[in-house]
Amino acid sequence: MLKLGVNIDHIATIRQARKENFPSVVEAAALCEKAGAQGITVHLREDRRHIQDRDIYDLRKSIRTKLNLEMAAEDEIINIAVDAKPDFVCLVPEKRQELTTEGGLNVLGSQKKFAMAVEKLKRAGIKVSMFIDPDIEQVEACSKISADCIELHTGKYAAAYKNFGKNSKEFQDEFGDIINASNRAIAKGLILNAGHGLDYDNIEEICKIEKMNEFNIGFSIIARAVFCGLEQAVSEMKELMAKYSQLG
Ligand code: PXP
Repeated sequence: MLKLGVNIDHIATIRQARKENFPSVVEAAALCEKAGAQGITVHLREDRRHIQDRDIYDLRKSIRTKLNLEMAAEDEIINIAVDAKPDFVCLVPEKRQELTTEGGLNVLGSQKKFAMAVEKLKRAGIKVSMFIDPDIEQVEACSKISADCIELHTGKYAAAYKNFGKNSKEFQDEFGDIINASNRAIAKGLILNAGHGLDYDNIEEICKIEKMNEFNIGFSIIARAVFCGLEQAVSEMKELMAKYSQLG
């Protein structure tokens, strides 16, 4: 069954705006799980702009599903992951000034560095995912360094959907890249996830990819939750995923 991991970074963004102790990420995670989320994702950024170290430990204790920690492959953060033991780590590229993660990892260009990070995390019993653009060579590189999963970056897919529509060549080209990369990942025995920029409209097409394991979705769900509440926002996304994945 196609799973939903909810990224709750922006609950912490609101909290950090006033440096208060609310809204609580633990409470947010519990509501997401109650509404059917199969995983909770948080990104511990090096600049700690939203999620703080303490949140990782609190969530580790409180959540009942799977904890997925997005992070850069840097020693300081790797050590925190090894200590806190999330179920999954998703390695992502990180630039200080970016608004959100831009582009996927160049695993092919730094295989040694990523192989070491993967090995260290796996030795701690953590499954490792690599956030990459839908590019067959990057998929191959993830398989070579023994990653468990890939998460395909759907940012360009989402932008093409918004700017050109689902019947456009631009969108179909991006979607075609995702389909090709997905097929290669499955052939290589990698667990296939996707995320970034997915929302209540563009989710339709990508749900049809067979063997997709999980989507990680944050911004669109938290934005909708402002008006209808977190449980409702998560439920609506789950309903759409169930509906569209049957059409695949
Ligand atoms: N997956 C990864 C690896 C990400 O970095 C992000 C953004 O933190 C997401 C998924 C969620 O993206 P969005 O907030 O656009 O749904």
